[in-house]
Amino acid sequence: MCGIVGAVSQRNIVPVLIEGLKRLEYRGYDSCGVAVHQDGMLRRVRSTSRVAELTGLAAEDGVASGTGIAHTRWATHGAPAVHNAHPHFSQGPGASSASVGRIALVHNGIIENHDELRAELKQRGYVFSSQTDTEVIAHLVDHLYNGDLLEAVQQALPRLKGAYAVAVFCRDEPHRVIAAREGSPLVLGVGGAEYGENFVASDAMALAGVTDQICYLEEGDVVDLQLGRYWISRRNAETGRFEAQQREVKTVHAHSGAAELGPYRHYMQKEIFEQPVAIANTLDAVNGISPELFGDGAYRIFKEIDSVLILACGTSYYSGSTAKYWLESIAKIPTSVEIASEYRYRDSVPNPRTLVVTISQSGETADTLAALKHARAQGMTKTLTICNVATSAMVRECELAYITRAGAEIGVASTKAFTTQLVGLFLLTLALAQTRGQLAEADEAEHLKALRHLPVAVQAVLALEPQVIAWSEEFARKENALFLGRGLHYPIALEGALKLKEISYIHAEAYPAGELKHGPLALVTAEMPVVTVAPNDALLEKLKSNMQEVRARGGQLYVFADGDTQIESEPGLHVIRMPEHYGALSPILHVIPLQLLAYHTACARGTDVDKPRNLAKSVTVE
Ligand code: M6R
Repeated sequence: MCGIVGAVSQRNIVPVLIEGLKRLEYRGYDSCGVAVHQDGMLRRVRSTSRVAELTGLAAEDGVASGTGIAHTRWATHGAPAVHNAHPHFSQGPGASSASVGRIALVHNGIIENHDELRAELKQRGYVFSSQTDTEVIAHLVDHLYNGDLLEAVQQALPRLKGAYAVAVFCRDEPHRVIAAREGSPLVLGVGGAEYGENFVASDAMALAGVTDQICYLEEGDVVDLQLGRYWISRRNAETGRFEAQQREVKTVHAHSGAAELGPYRHYMQKEIFEQPVAIANTLDAVNGISPELFGDGAYRIFKEIDSVLILACGTSYYSGSTAKYWLESIAKIPTSVEIASEYRYRDSVPNPRTLVVTISQSGETADTLAALKHARAQGMTKTLTICNVATSAMVRECELAYITRAGAEIGVASTKAFTTQLVGLFLLTLALAQTRGQLAEADEAEHLKALRHLPVAVQAVLALEPQVIAWSEEFARKENALFLGRGLHYPIALEGALKLKEISYIHAEAYPAGELKHGPLALVTAEMPVVTVAPNDALLEKLKSNMQEVRARGGQLYVFADGDTQIESEPGLHVIRMPEHYGALSPILHVIPLQLLAYHTACARGTDVDKPRNLAKSVTVE
């Protein structure tokens, strides 16, 4: 989703800004741009193509300066088009006015009262050249500007409703960038003395290579970047005045998102095949089960809770939905799982003895962060996150954490993040079971053995790829698909359907197989492929009856069956044989062929697998 980079330096900073945008590309975007302060004017280049194009455009136009801001945009208000791309310049009242082209601004987030502000600014003579909510901020800052950019921004911010991170500079103050955040992430990067440079960016990864001295700005922070100095302030809600703030600057070794593709065609394929290593890395520090795997003080917190509430979105929600089965059957703890964007606006009954667990690959998902805050505001202060980014807002906001070690996930479709989340959630299940006296030593040893063997088991499932490719050629010709699962594997069916729709654009729906006859069976014809997740578990015989219901209506079944199920191929029943049943951890194996099926179907349809239309990797707006 939108990414911001800004800098003040004594060297030409344009290549650094563009490199920063490249490192944010993985978030997903549909246009990009850079603006600088040059020869007493604002200059910019913008594009609806890739970030790499900005280098050529900047060189052609001779755009170079030490002060600038840059942006990748994921359209919310206004189509993806050059005139809507950031940075936006103020244009205001009257073409001859001194304020024309005075303010340059980039923004991440959504300004909810933009219509009202737009009407007011139009009345004052401001001219709008985009459909974005962002342009109103540039005009508002311009309107309030009276020789001090910091003051103008500080006066503008209380008028904005919604979420934002902004970076702004002014034609009349050559070596200054002001940035602010409320609801969208932003970091300050403190540069070396050589160029006296300082930076802001949406995340530390954007600054990898220029500085590892990172300060995570807090909600409401405004930072004034100048050569060799910076100053952070925040509004005191009682007095309305902005007061200086001290923030810790940490050494952060952020990894670049621009990982090499190696022999793979897409990042998604690479990430699917990285799962054995990602799981092994996630388990690396686990020598036994103990609450302390989740941080100091975990034992005390685990002792105080009587239920679990999981909050997440998308694929992370499905890993949470799988974990509910584990938590209730193994740890015997009541668990509810909520879609973060629903929970945050729902009247629910808070229980202070609940452990609130957020799950997130990025750790920056706006809905999940807001749901966490909502839970805390209701007195549920025992919080834990399962997250893939150690430096993310989610990890900073939660009391306890388990960091999955999937490594950078670039493909928009989440794969290795999902399976490593499941590993983290299974460890949480065992730690809670142990704390609650529900885990016999022998069972603990068995579970640990199965976890340690997982990378090898996953490798064996990945070897099924050629068989999945053969199926994907048939799927590529379909426009609809049904996915069935039962119990612990119903969320896996949901995840398989999400993967297929997300990257191949085939309409796919998942059902618990027992629900078929309550409605979706009406959709079943010879044209409807029905993908079935068939582990050899206690529900297998029930599932076989559901499969008969499909066969009796001429439906085509595509079944991923455990090796010990005795389900054989026959006309209308296509079977790919998985390894033998893997017990409680079986969902981690069964999701792999569904990822491969979605991936190869998308390849056969020729879609943009790593950057599917309309989607972003990191969803930092509501
Ligand atoms: O970074 P998060 O795990 O919080 O992201 C949540 C969802 O946006 C994400 O899982 C999304 O559904 C993926 N594109 C699914 O492949």
